[in-house]
Amino acid sequence: MGFVMIIGAKSDIAKSLARKYADHGYDLYLAARNSSEMKDFASDIHIRSKKKVKCIELDILNRPSHQKFYDDLEEKPLGVITAVGYLGDQLKAQNEIGEAEKIIHTNFTGLVSILNIIAGDFEKRKSGFIIGISSVAGDRGRKSNYLYGASKAAFTTYLSGLRNRLFGSNITVLTVKPGYVATKMTQGMDLPKILTAQSDEAAEDILKAQLKGKDIIYTKWMWKWIAMIIRKIPERIFKGMSL
Ligand SMILES: NC(=O)c1ccc[n+]([C@@H]2O[C@H](COP(=O)([O-])OP(=O)(O)OC[C@H]3O[C@@H](n4cnc5c(N)ncnc54)[C@H](OP(=O)(O)O)[C@@H]3O)[C@@H](O)[C@H]2O)c1
Repeated sequence: MGFVMIIGAKSDIAKSLARKYADHGYDLYLAARNSSEMKDFASDIHIRSKKKVKCIELDILNRPSHQKFYDDLEEKPLGVITAVGYLGDQLKAQNEIGEAEKIIHTNFTGLVSILNIIAGDFEKRKSGFIIGISSVAGDRGRKSNYLYGASKAAFTTYLSGLRNRLFGSNITVLTVKPGYVATKMTQGMDLPKILTAQSDEAAEDILKAQLKGKDIIYTKWMWKWIAMIIRKIPERIFKGMSL
């Protein structure tokens, strides 16, 4: 069928997506930093699915490397999924611009850099799909994680503009807004079970939505309604709340 590229492929959600897209008939580019650590995982998928699985090195923060990274691919992908994310340390980010920048560049600027290149190629070819994993945290800023939330809000808006730009070129852009997902990122947090998806559930929601050509999804589904309520709380009340 051809390749799907997963950027940030060592993420737990990405790993579930990799298995699902291979089962669905796609070859895989698994792009990650220290990508050689994924060799066993890649060969396991290859053995089970008989699909080609290539691990490739990509640091989303190393923006000058992105053009060559893409140019070097022998076969360009049919679709791309971004799963890179960095929650960071909100308190540190309030006091140290270095931490704030790392959050912003990992969740936004770095992804803009690589997606600009890929979107340009897809646009020329007039085909492709792009899936960006953003977050409900981007729907409203909260004191506990507003640097992460702000970078996700920027990413959500970027994906919205990309969808609008690429609509006439036969390219779909799916924005994914997870609520809580049990992954490395949320390890050690006391998350409400009913509101927390497993990586596999999130990946299943994402695959189904992409196949249906959807624009925006929340996972778990109930986060759509939770986010709507949170967005509707008047600012004069919201500013005094601890969420
Ligand atoms: N888990 C949640 O509750 C939740 C909620 C909303 C949104 N999300 C989003 O879902 C996506 C997937 O996250 P996850 O939950 O699966 O968490 P995760 O397992 O921690 O995955 C995040 C991935 O981002 C990668 N990454 C960070 N900086 C990078 C860089 N400079 N270059 C390349 N890769 C880099 C990490 O690579 P290393 O493995 O090398 O560190 C890691 O594999 C993220 O966009 C996250 O923001 C998650």
